Amino acid sequence: MENQVLIVNHPLIQHKLTLIRNKNTGSKEFRELIGEIAMLMGYEATRDLPLKEVEIETPVAIARTQIISGRKLAFVPILRAGIGMIDGLIGLVPAAKVGHIGIYRNPTTLEPVEYYSKLPPDIDERDVIVLDPMLATGGSAIDAISIVKQCNPRCIKFMCILAAPEGIQALSKSHPDVQIYCASMDKKLNEYGYIVPGLGDAGDRIFGTK
Ligand code: PRP
Ligand code: URA
Repeated sequence: MENQVLIVNHPLIQHKLTLIRNKNTGSKEFRELIGEIAMLMGYEATRDLPLKEVEIETPVAIARTQIISGRKLAFVPILRAGIGMIDGLIGLVPAAKVGHIGIYRNPTTLEPVEYYSKLPPDIDERDVIVLDPMLATGGSAIDAISIVKQCNPRCIKFMCILAAPEGIQALSKSHPDVQIYCASMDKKLNEYGYIVPGLGDAGDRIFGTK
């Protein structure tokens, strides 16, 4: 499959993006907004879930209607900031399992450093959506997806909120089979590897660590 980038530019998402970009937005509101944006993006990322027909009885008549046909999903947030997206998505798909991959960027080299990984044992029977609000150089997402791929999931999607063109390019090159969903493609990276205009350090803003 050719790599595809889908920019989810629904007005509600764009409005909430403006709020999280604002440096005066505090941690509580920032955290809530990240969860809400993830939920709205999840609507798009789950659009291809297959349906099956069932027969039910309404108070008025018998109806043939549709339900999701048991497709299994797993969400895999990249720690820390990906954690902020999980509640919104679990709200949409409560039966999904959740794996965790811990990666931080070395602040000098910007190279990803892996420190934790715990994935559902039946991930080979699942579609996986890897989550991280920020795709900057792409190093963290590329490594996280490589870790997930070792477990042979049925398919992998990557969902971020902001992406730099450099990150999209690097991720597309390393994992051309992974569909990317993002809410905005920003202008560029600055000399410190931060997305411009971006929103700053997502993990610090979610957890109030700065
Ligand atoms: C941030 C962010 C991504 C990564 C993106 O994490 O949440 O995981 O940087 O950058 P990249 O595309 O250049 O790899 P960070 O390293 O700040 O770790 P943290 O979430 O633990 O704060
Ligand atoms: N990680 C962040 O949290 N923000 C950026 O702009 C880049 C990487």
